[in-house]
Amino acid sequence: MIIDILTLFPGMFDGFINESIIKRARDKGIVKINIIDFRKYSKLSNNQVDDTPYGGGGGMVLMIEPIYDALKEIKDNDKDAYVILLTPDGKQFRQEEAVYLSKNRKHLVFICGHYEGFDERIRTLCDLEISIGDYVLTGGELPAMVISDSIIRLLDGVITNTSLDSESFNDKLLDYPTYTKPREFMGMKVPDVLLSGDHAKIAEWRYKQKLERTKERRPDLLK
Ligand code: ADE
Repeated sequence: MIIDILTLFPGMFDGFINESIIKRARDKGIVKINIIDFRKYSKLSNNQVDDTPYGGGGGMVLMIEPIYDALKEIKDNDKDAYVILLTPDGKQFRQEEAVYLSKNRKHLVFICGHYEGFDERIRTLCDLEISIGDYVLTGGELPAMVISDSIIRLLDGVITNTSLDSESFNDKLLDYPTYTKPREFMGMKVPDVLLSGDHAKIAEWRYKQKLERTKERRPDLLK
C-alpha cells in the first residue's frame, strides 16, 4: 500500500513512521509512506498556502491551488489514488472503514488541513471526508496518523492473524479480558477457567465476557 500525506508540518510524522510496528511494516515493504509538504506547491511569495476568508471573519483559510497541484501530480502517476480529507465534519471513522480501506485500496492520500479551515472547493477534489471524533484538533495530522495506523496494522504480514482475530469491534463486540503472570497480584487472581487447560470452556468464558463487557460499556454496539 502507498500512503501519501499532504501536510504543512512534516516533522509531526517523524515518530509515527520511524518507530515500532509502522517502521517494521515500512522496512518489510508492506507500506510506503510519503510525507509531502504541500507548501512546495505554492506559487506565491513566501510559499504562502493560506489567505483570509472572503466575507470577512477571523483566521486564515487553506487555498485550493497548492492542494490541486499536489493531487494532480499524484493522480497523474496513479489515477486510482483515493483522496481522503480530514475534517471534523466528515464521516465518523470506525473499525469497519479501516477494514474496508485496508482490503480495497492500494493507494491512499490524506489531506491535513490546518489553521481555521480550508476553501470549500477543496472538498470537490476528495473521494471521502473523515472525522476521527466529535472534537476539534489543531489540524489533520493526528487524524491522518490514527487512520493510517488502524489500516496498516490490518495489512497482511504486519501483525499475526491470531492477534487480529480476537480484538475489539471485530464482531461488533469489545474484547475479552486477558491476564499474564503472576497468577495472583495483591489479592487479584487470574480466573480459574484460564488455568484449566479446557479450551472449549475458555472459549465459552471469553465469549460471555465479550458480551457482558459490551453490554456494560458500549450498549450502543449491541443495537
Ligand atoms: N481536524 C480537526 N479536527 C479533526 C477531527 N476531529 N477529525 C478529523 N480531522 C480533524
